[in-house]
Amino acid sequence: MRCSRRSRLRRCHCLPPDGAALFKQQCATCHTTNLSDPVRQGPPLFRIVGRPAGKAEGFHYSAGFAKADFVWDDARLDAWLANPQAMIPGAIMAYRQARPETRAAIIAYLKELN
Ligand code: HEC
Repeated sequence: MRCSRRSRLRRCHCLPPDGAALFKQQCATCHTTNLSDPVRQGPPLFRIVGRPAGKAEGFHYSAGFAKADFVWDDARLDAWLANPQAMIPGAIMAYRQARPETRAAIIAYLKELN
């Protein structure tokens, strides 16, 4: 994508957000994306898209996850990253992302990954 002259004067949107870098910055302190690294504060996100919520083996979720009866898809991940507690009351994930394009880039990265 090219920057138009006008957009360049205000703010350049020509670089798409880099999902891999964003994940590293914003998620990787708490989440791995494989099943071999030691589990961090949050559950591993290996094959998260298409996986039932709250079912990472051996991970101790907060109580609300016991009632979470759905499979993670783009829309649910988007809502979760925007506001976890609105989706699962009492969720203990200390993260919120208000920018839709940042959420989308991270979700796209997770889908590509595995
Ligand atoms: C400060 C640590 C922390 C950060 C940063 C964080 N998470 Fe989490 N995440 C958690 C914890 C803890 C849980 C479990 C929540 C619970 O049990 O209530 C969780 C749960 C999840 C789940 C549900 C997984 C499942 O098995 O159902 C997803 C999806 C998720 N996080 C994605 C992300 C993504 C993507 C990012 C980065 C944009 C991120 N998280 C950033 C700590 C974090």
